[in-house]
Amino acid sequence: MRSLQSLVFHRHHIMSILKPFPGLILLTVVVGLSYGSVLNVSYNQPGHEISPILWGIFFEEINHAGDGGLYAELIKNRALSPKRLGSNLDGYTVVKSDGVDGRIYVSRDHPLNSVLDTSLRLNVDSDVAAGQRIGVSNNGYWGIPTRPDYTTYKASFYAKSIGGFTGPLTVSIESSNGSIVYATAQVPQITEEFQKYEVTLTPTPALIQTPSLDNLFTITANGPLTANTSIFFNVMSLFPPTFKNHTNGLRIDLAQKLVDAKPSFFRFPGGNFLEGATIDERFAWEDTIGDVAQRPGHMGPWGYYSSDGLGLLEYLQLAEDLNAEIILGVFTGYALNGESVPPEEMGPYLDSILNEIEYVIGNTSTTWGARRAADGHPEPFNLTYVEIGNEDWISNDYHIRYALFYDSILARYPQLEIIATQVVDSRPIPVIDDHFYPGFGWFPDNHRYYDNAPRNGSKIFVGEYATRDNINPEPYANLAAAMDDASFMTGIERNSDIVIMACYAPLLGHLNNLAWQPDGIYFNGVQSYATPAWWVQHLFSVIRGDTYIPTTSDADEQKFFHVASRKTDTNTLVLKLVNTNSEDILIDTVTLEGVTTPRGGTKTVLTGGRWDQNDLEEPLRISPKTEEFNVTSNSFSFNAPAFSLTILEIQL
Ligand code: AHR
Repeated sequence: MRSLQSLVFHRHHIMSILKPFPGLILLTVVVGLSYGSVLNVSYNQPGHEISPILWGIFFEEINHAGDGGLYAELIKNRALSPKRLGSNLDGYTVVKSDGVDGRIYVSRDHPLNSVLDTSLRLNVDSDVAAGQRIGVSNNGYWGIPTRPDYTTYKASFYAKSIGGFTGPLTVSIESSNGSIVYATAQVPQITEEFQKYEVTLTPTPALIQTPSLDNLFTITANGPLTANTSIFFNVMSLFPPTFKNHTNGLRIDLAQKLVDAKPSFFRFPGGNFLEGATIDERFAWEDTIGDVAQRPGHMGPWGYYSSDGLGLLEYLQLAEDLNAEIILGVFTGYALNGESVPPEEMGPYLDSILNEIEYVIGNTSTTWGARRAADGHPEPFNLTYVEIGNEDWISNDYHIRYALFYDSILARYPQLEIIATQVVDSRPIPVIDDHFYPGFGWFPDNHRYYDNAPRNGSKIFVGEYATRDNINPEPYANLAAAMDDASFMTGIERNSDIVIMACYAPLLGHLNNLAWQPDGIYFNGVQSYATPAWWVQHLFSVIRGDTYIPTTSDADEQKFFHVASRKTDTNTLVLKLVNTNSEDILIDTVTLEGVTTPRGGTKTVLTGGRWDQNDLEEPLRISPKTEEFNVTSNSFSFNAPAFSLTILEIQL
């Protein structure tokens, strides 16, 4: 059971969490003169172990992070599903030669199957002469991408016809005005019954000199064709090459950025996306597995419909590819509109979560373990952490739900660690998830936030955090915000005996659909880049020690931040130094206590102008530079540039 002291600590903390985005807090930056100071590094007094899983990632379907982003599917509104609002054919248009008549609409009379019980109907309303065509196009998520490295695409769709048309159908990627056909293939024949057709599209390399988005995916019938023919489609799909070549896989450049950051854990699927705007719109994991033609998708809370092509198994596969611990968030009966399932009616929801865990870790003799095997992954995944809900301080009966989940999960899976999202005393809280989205100044002012947290209470997971720029008109992903994050991260690392995990949020943002800023990585259909904040995450994660080394300094505590650790296997001292000031800070004397002769090392610096950001034109404007750090004495001076993160790795 947690101590009262620990409960009070977290209750105070949760009141101070800044969700939603706080009002404007103006920060006056005092531009002062730089001055000399000291930094003492007590290498001879190693402290606690640095949590080996300290830095990780959190993914949720927000800002088209998945659909149109990490999930490599290029077709928008792939599955025409009854759950979709109205007769939404967003993304699709008729393609037809001059003089040809035809239209598309959602047909409820020709369902694909019992889940996707509609289809897209193309009615050919006039004769189509030889040399003419009629069909349907999809313009994807703000364009169908062509890139020199997209050397083949896998296209597939379900189709059938009535009125005598038996094919062929031409499948192409073409420019929006039709003047360039990059790649084309034929399906020779279709029938009066829905069947799945698959083709490979191989673009002509000479046609693709530079990446482009001004393109369409088209499926057309060529004349001669008589009027009153109808062709029906559903689950049109187009994949470029995917990360690790997985079927139904991920976009390579985005997945690679995640891999490159070496995250130790992967929290999913939300966030608000887990809860849904209504109970019906929660993340219902059962609807996100198996054949994509059996996934209805659902309306997400961030203003768009999720295909759920990126479903439970795809998340798990990514965790495995990242070699990351899984943090599985599970639905506790609360929706964002305030609806909640009464605790006494939670039975079916609780069963669903126990089934979900069985899907993740059950062996193939269990019902859901067998289902996972049938879906393509016989080996159980490694699961350690299950998070009960998300930000449940909005509720007043979480203590009841938490106890229900805690007891049921641990009765069946005693090896699992439970994470709570609100402080309750109905059951022990092994780990509590804290979230922070402050404006400027809060992180630097509170970098010692966890210094006095009780050491005998819950471990802490900082499951979402980011500085949200409250000075500029929009919360831009600039260097100053990244440096505020970094200041707090020094405190997280210093306290990583109790703060065992932390991850930035949100992770990804499509530049055409930013519901929430700032984000870690921005992208459009063909390009992506890390924000300064992501570089901070990347650097803290890839350069890690295993043992905390105490540091003290007389430099201004509100502007200069420091944390040190040791990589024991290579005998390396890692010093992470952050300057959130608009002037350089000179440390006259850095003293490595207990060190005789350092053998040199490297210096990695992330710096630039205060409001500098990366963008599509200059994606690496703010990016780390590493150079040799020629240190051979245990005492040296160091200049921390204005708005900088410096990581010194010193060989001892
Ligand atoms: O990260 C964006 C949102 O912020 C998450 O969905 C939610 O958990 C938090 O309030």
